Amino acid sequence: MPELNFDGHNTLYASHGLHAYAAKCPPQLVRYGIRYYSRPGDTVLDPMAGSGTTLVEARLLGRRAIGYDIDPLARLIAGVKSRPLEDSAIERGYGSVIDRVEKDLALLKSGKISEALKRRATVPVFKNCDYWFSPKVAVALSILSHHVSVTQMAEAVRKFLWVALSSTILAKKSVANARDIIHSRHHYYEHSEMPDVVARFATRVRIMRRQMEDFCRRCGESDASEVAVRGGDARRLGVGDETVDLVFTSPPYATALDYPRAHFLAIPWMHDILNLTVEKYLAKAPRYIGTERGSCKEPDPKSLEGYKKASSVVAKLEKQSPRHARLTGRYFLDMKKVLFEMQRVLRRDKYAIVVVCPSHIRKIAIPTHEVLQSWEKGWA
Ligand SMILES: C[S@@+](CC[C@H](N)C(=O)[O-])C[C@H]1O[C@@H](n2cnc3c(N)ncnc32)[C@H](O)[C@@H]1O
Repeated sequence: MPELNFDGHNTLYASHGLHAYAAKCPPQLVRYGIRYYSRPGDTVLDPMAGSGTTLVEARLLGRRAIGYDIDPLARLIAGVKSRPLEDSAIERGYGSVIDRVEKDLALLKSGKISEALKRRATVPVFKNCDYWFSPKVAVALSILSHHVSVTQMAEAVRKFLWVALSSTILAKKSVANARDIIHSRHHYYEHSEMPDVVARFATRVRIMRRQMEDFCRRCGESDASEVAVRGGDARRLGVGDETVDLVFTSPPYATALDYPRAHFLAIPWMHDILNLTVEKYLAKAPRYIGTERGSCKEPDPKSLEGYKKASSVVAKLEKQSPRHARLTGRYFLDMKKVLFEMQRVLRRDKYAIVVVCPSHIRKIAIPTHEVLQSWEKGWA
């Protein structure tokens, strides 16, 4: 077993740094798993693919890749990151968009505002928009979003530019009035200077183009392979029985992260690609595994009977917080479904690698790795 501690390693090579994402898996760990437990041409599945680390590494190593995620923004990011895209095509698409955006902003400044420009500059309606975005930033984002949506260009380039737009908002230094959006609860942040949306977008595109070039160059070192990114639920995958050679995934943890909350500030500006309102997006949050949202009446305590590890963790939590006990029980049972589904789709004698680590909820140790291993007992 080689050293699997990747602390201090560069985790942003190839396209891995195209967009921030909470709880990304270190690509070196994925690379190790794929290299040692599959062969070129094999099919690798990630049922909770997030921003696509597994898909990128599978593509770099010449494996066919299938990624599922319940989150539409994750799927957009994962798709863009895992498919090579020529820089000259990006340059053309980006050039046309930025020309149009700059013209519109100059017209707005000069006061020559046509009805059409008014429409392009109309800010989407959503709760607390004025709180999270200053008016000038909101108008610039609306104009940018409009031109990314309608300017003629290859669809793959358009998706790349949508990811660039999203990454100006969901960033450590966001154009929104918030900081560290992806990794923590949003908190208000007052900019000392008004963020320049066009300049931030230009910087993001410049960095992303370099990263995409690196990805394309590295892709050239192995045979081309197909990557499929699909919407769906890891508890019921649309994948045939015994068709996958390796599963590699890093699932969410119990009550740790709320992906819709982490992403919602980008959603209003991406309506044309995601076809979602913020309200609809947030309404789907209870279906995410590990979420704190939705009903926590389930599970029936009896459903954990016979699983010593899971029941003892939940019983300890019950004394501290019955709500967290129930949410954690629900998480364990959801993950049981995911593990059974992985077993169904894997070919005989093939492997599933599930990256989890112990955590704490209300000061109670949650040995998720041990609980997930214990489900093996119930397998047919
Ligand atoms: C820890 S993240 C995966 C990160 C990924 N390995 C990466 O490096 O970007 C877990 C993912 O599980 C997804 N997820 C949560 N519930 C799901 C479900 N029921 N079906 C599929 N995906 C789900 C979340 O949207 C999130 O993207």
